[in-house]
Amino acid sequence: MFELRSARFLAAAHLSEVIEPGDTVVDATAGNGHDTCFLAERVGPAGHVWAFDVQASALQSTEARLREKGLLDRVTLVHASHARLREFVSGPVRTVSFNLGWLPGGDKQITTHWDSTEAAVTQALSLLAPLGLCTVCAYPGHPAGDEERRQLQLLLAALRPQEFNVLHERFLNAGPGAPECFTVQRLRPAER
Ligand SMILES: C[S@@+](CC[C@H](N)C(=O)[O-])C[C@H]1O[C@@H](n2cnc3c(N)ncnc32)[C@H](O)[C@@H]1O
Repeated sequence: MFELRSARFLAAAHLSEVIEPGDTVVDATAGNGHDTCFLAERVGPAGHVWAFDVQASALQSTEARLREKGLLDRVTLVHASHARLREFVSGPVRTVSFNLGWLPGGDKQITTHWDSTEAAVTQALSLLAPLGLCTVCAYPGHPAGDEERRQLQLLLAALRPQEFNVLHERFLNAGPGAPECFTVQRLRPAER
């Protein structure tokens, strides 16, 4: 049953609504691989997941998790910044998901930064198929994360409503630093 639980669960719920077996999707921040496994299960054996991370150790964790679940053959692991998304993925893709910040239990110095996040989100939006989604979980509980969330909100709020719908979800009673979920959907093409 649906549980109103956290920004990550909201993103997963939205992604589940649109991903179909056989789809191509992107995990822009693989981390420990939890989200990559979720995506690999959703796309099924005929689908494909591109998973990016700048940390080799994160990709090793992701690879081990995928192998354990028998999902590795449907995932390409990319050891590069998501700012280089379009060098690897030509699109169109059904979804691109971002879980910003640092690796839980990892080095907090290795975190997402607005300059690369902006480049990556912009490329992600350009790759989306009609009705495809881009989800971004942002963590404003520390100054750099709050600034990243603020800039992201400005970027997404300025998108053309003829091209995208943009949803911003946050838990009003969870305090100002609680994680937030942004979801962007490319509109279906206009009927002639
Ligand atoms: C919050 S964690 C992701 C958690 C992950 N989705 C999971 O299910 O475990 C954020 C990840 O983004 C990665 N990262 C930071 N900057 C990046 C960049 N420019 N490109 C790709 N990944 C990046 C970090 O190395 C870290 O592993």
